[in-house]
Amino acid sequence: MSVSGPKKIMVTGALGQIGTELVEKLRKIYGNENILATDVRKLDDNPGVQNGPFEILSVVDSDSMDKLVKEYDIQEIYHLAAILSATGEKKPELCKKINIGGTISVLETALNNNLKIFAPSSIAVFGPDAPKNAPQVTPLNPTTVYGQTKVIGENLANEYWQKHGLDTRGLRYPGLISWKSPAGGGTTDYAVEIFHAALEKGHYDCFVGPETRLPMMYIDDAIRATLELMNSPVDNIGDSRAGYNISGISFTAQQLVDTISERVDGFTCTFTPDKRQLYADSWPDSIDDSQAKDDWGWEAQYNLENIVDSMIEGLSD
Ligand code: NAD
Ligand code: SER
Repeated sequence: MSVSGPKKIMVTGALGQIGTELVEKLRKIYGNENILATDVRKLDDNPGVQNGPFEILSVVDSDSMDKLVKEYDIQEIYHLAAILSATGEKKPELCKKINIGGTISVLETALNNNLKIFAPSSIAVFGPDAPKNAPQVTPLNPTTVYGQTKVIGENLANEYWQKHGLDTRGLRYPGLISWKSPAGGGTTDYAVEIFHAALEKGHYDCFVGPETRLPMMYIDDAIRATLELMNSPVDNIGDSRAGYNISGISFTAQQLVDTISERVDGFTCTFTPDKRQLYADSWPDSIDDSQAKDDWGWEAQYNLENIVDSMIEGLSD
């Protein structure tokens, strides 16, 4: 790891929902040339990612990852590449290979090159037996393959910290709501798709029922939480380092519809629950994030009203 010069960071899965905005933010802070965006997909017309270095990288290819880390003199990896819940339940072997295999590649590369790591977890680590307001510490018995890969990811990150002193950090992101890039195959995608449908067609057919309540967060809060966690002194980071609960808001699908309807004339929504209803039902309604508050001062800023305002404004520009 370099000890002088600007901080150099690699982002995996950089063309996804979170990567698009994280790369943009990191480049604003550290300089475009110091943030290496990587993804298995080709760079498209994604403006947030085109203004700096980009390399094709599959996260299961640890040799290529190691090469890029050395070539670009990388000191930190934000590891976002993954298969999310809805795709993961359709393709469980792929989900295990990318989510677990990719995390092992990142951790091994980090160990070889003494890197600091951010690897996100998810509310999907909780199963139906967890309290509906999920505490930081509770038995983790997810029923989705995706959730199981996230529990393994947290355990691996903890193991590399405990055995090797590798500075690994992670957040259990709630469902994230953003407009700059589409959501990538998750169960919480309805809370993003609904805005596109409302503005483009005036109608949405929602794949979870009206009473479905899940923990959600606006992307600006999620990016801020990520950077606050990564920039906190190591002494502030406690036993939850691999998967801090962070809470934004919690609302039902019907409450989201009602809040959009107040702003989009004539918007209608029907509900046709599919398999994703089962995944949603296995997750908590809300998240207790008191540990993140105590350890590194986390506080969400967005509520349902200003999320809906920001989404409509962003998509209307
Ligand atoms: P996304 O699906 O939008 O993006 C993931 C990116 O990974 C895609 O660009 C995809 O091309 C890339 N990818 C897939 N396989 C790859 C491989 N083999 N090598 C390299 N890249 C590969 O996902 P996201 O929403 O940006 O999620 C990022 C991380 O955050 C994931 O770990 C996800 O589990 C976690 N997370 C996301 C949410 C959410 O609501 N978005 C919630 C909880 C946790
Ligand atoms: N938003 C993600 C999903 O639905 C949760 O990790 O898969």
